[in-house]
Amino acid sequence: MLLLEEDFSEIAKSIKASEIRELLKVVQNPEIISLAGGLPNPKAFPVEIIKEIVDDLLERIGPKVLQYGSTEGVNSFRDVIVDMTTNKFGFSNIKRDNVLVVAGSQQGLYLLAKIFLNKGDLVIVEAPSYVGVFTAFQSSFPEYIDIEMDNNGMNTYLLEDKLKELKREGKKPKLIYTIPTFQNPAGVTMSLDRRKHLIELAEEYDTLILEDGPYEELRYSGTEVPRIKSLDVDHRVIYLGTFSKILSPGIRIAYMVAHEEIIQKAVLAKQGVDLCTNTLSQYIAQEYIRKGYLEKHLPKIISMYKEKRDTMLDALEDYFPDGVEWTRPDGGMFLWVTLPNHLNAEKLFPRAIEHKVAYVIGSAFYPKRDHKNTMRLNFTYPSNENIKEGIRRLAMVIKEAL
Ligand SMILES: Cc1ncc(COP(=O)(O)O)c(C=O)c1O
Repeated sequence: MLLLEEDFSEIAKSIKASEIRELLKVVQNPEIISLAGGLPNPKAFPVEIIKEIVDDLLERIGPKVLQYGSTEGVNSFRDVIVDMTTNKFGFSNIKRDNVLVVAGSQQGLYLLAKIFLNKGDLVIVEAPSYVGVFTAFQSSFPEYIDIEMDNNGMNTYLLEDKLKELKREGKKPKLIYTIPTFQNPAGVTMSLDRRKHLIELAEEYDTLILEDGPYEELRYSGTEVPRIKSLDVDHRVIYLGTFSKILSPGIRIAYMVAHEEIIQKAVLAKQGVDLCTNTLSQYIAQEYIRKGYLEKHLPKIISMYKEKRDTMLDALEDYFPDGVEWTRPDGGMFLWVTLPNHLNAEKLFPRAIEHKVAYVIGSAFYPKRDHKNTMRLNFTYPSNENIKEGIRRLAMVIKEAL
């Protein structure tokens, strides 16, 4: 059958393939050391624990764990999320009606775009920001305003200037999207002062904060900073949490914690997407927490990733030339490299592939596709040997270009 462009909807025509996904196809070649991906290490998956949990669930609860569930999520699991976010994360005023279970925080982002964004609505993002938010939001056609970051995360003073300017023009952003802790892609963490400032600004300018926290629990150094949502008293913050990095991304379990009216709208939007989140997976995540497996397993993931982060930081010190800068993340999965201004990471990419190493071109993380002299490196997936060798090869590519 011959399919023509006009056969597709306006939305399908407007959707572009993610550059990262396209790049990752090149990286399938096993000779190439990929520092490009964003995957957790499969050695971090608690295979034996999941086996035990599933056996127990099927024996004890039986067919119910294989049945459709309500769109909101399995109630006992939502209660576990209420308990965890209240007692461990310090959120206040959280009840079951404030929790929606979603099939990955990616789905949470998609649903929020559906319920909040009309064409041309303004969304504030960090510069750089998570590529998947642009994909999740793209069929709602918002406009982005990006706010620079430094080692303390989003610069909320620049944000304040921007919000003032918008107000003068009679405009107001719908959402401020932030990944405050171990940011993807930059690896930096927003300071407590800025988190407080951000909440004050959201109140003053009457806008919502969308806090995405997939990496919160993967801390290898430094001291914990409270989630923005824990500083929130009237549900101005929508929080997205996920089990992808602390249990398994393949089970697709995440959750949204928000004002109950937001949850109700998101439930309606979700009904049309998938009726309900995978029931068995919800029970697996529930038991993972309830039976204390998470607390037992998490230190193993952290110690593996800490070693990998340190290996990458050491290799960068050893091999990278003067004039190249990088962030030193206290956790998460990525660090961010800034090359001298005259170098272009897009143009360097084919040379890197010839040297059998890959990274993600940094401009993909900016709504305007600028900042061509940047790149994102992942340290959780490659082996320690490949991290060292990958950085050595990348250093050669950069030195040649210099
Ligand atoms: C900032 C951010 N948000 C959301 C996601 C999606 O996570 P999930 O697997 O929960 O859909 C990721 C995954 O890498 C991410 O880095």
